[in-house]
Amino acid sequence: MQIIDGKEISGRIKEELKINVDQLKMKTGKVPGLVTILVGDNPASTFYVNSKAKSCKEIGMFSQVDLLDESISEMELLQLIEKYNNDKKIHGILVQLPLPKHIDEDKIIEAISPSKDVDGFHPISVGKLVIGKDTFLPCTPYGILELLKRYKIETKGKHVVVVGRSNIVGKPAANIMLQKKEGANAIVTVCHSAAEDLTQYTKQADILIAAIGKANFITADMVKEGVVVIDVGINRVEDTASKKGYKIVGDVDFENVKAKSSYITPVPGGVGLMTIAMLLRNTYEAFLKIENVKS
Ligand code: GUN
Repeated sequence: MQIIDGKEISGRIKEELKINVDQLKMKTGKVPGLVTILVGDNPASTFYVNSKAKSCKEIGMFSQVDLLDESISEMELLQLIEKYNNDKKIHGILVQLPLPKHIDEDKIIEAISPSKDVDGFHPISVGKLVIGKDTFLPCTPYGILELLKRYKIETKGKHVVVVGRSNIVGKPAANIMLQKKEGANAIVTVCHSAAEDLTQYTKQADILIAAIGKANFITADMVKEGVVVIDVGINRVEDTASKKGYKIVGDVDFENVKAKSSYITPVPGGVGLMTIAMLLRNTYEAFLKIENVKS
């Protein structure tokens, strides 16, 4: 059994990007820029947004964080996005989800210029992904693809079972693994909460992608011997032994499932860190296209 070390791989990707950004700066006098927009003060979202900004700065990218009051109107947010669509310093725009109920998430996502859609959530980006065109891949599934690649885990003809069907992880992960491309080319099943017996599907997985959002949901009896487990979950559970009073666990019952796995991602230290690394890579790629520079 091997632990897939997301900390090590994401660190390496950031180092590679830092070198590339330094070179861009020398060549063009410019650096890639990312704006992250957060509406409201949800603690988990605030944590993610700050982590994204910190990583940007670490590799020499320009980072702007806009913290907006919960009461901002949809129109004001749309105007702000339009401003960044036209801002020459900004190559990537990320609006942290979820948004407050009075704002239509689809409208906001569609207002982002597809050329700056580093989250890969715009319908044009999603459409391109589905038909196999070059586009920005959503950062979490892109991170999964990269982990499998760097650990040389065969995907061609393997049965990838995705549990969860969100637009952020489940659906794009399934579409990425389905593509007739290197690092993918898998047989893909997507299952979700409507299944009467999830185990019937998860037991078939050569590679199991758990993106459910429920702590320790995937148990050892739900997987077959030798499975590769990718745990996308980030769940807070009470932990009286910790100073904070909680700890972070995945969607997979790690200790028990580990014993049956050939590879497994830990939480924390697995997929989560990759999401930020791939966001930075998407921002770098957006810069190359917008500024018409070759890497
Ligand atoms: N909320 C949870 N994950 C994500 C993500 O990858 N991007 C954005 N914009 N919001 C999120």
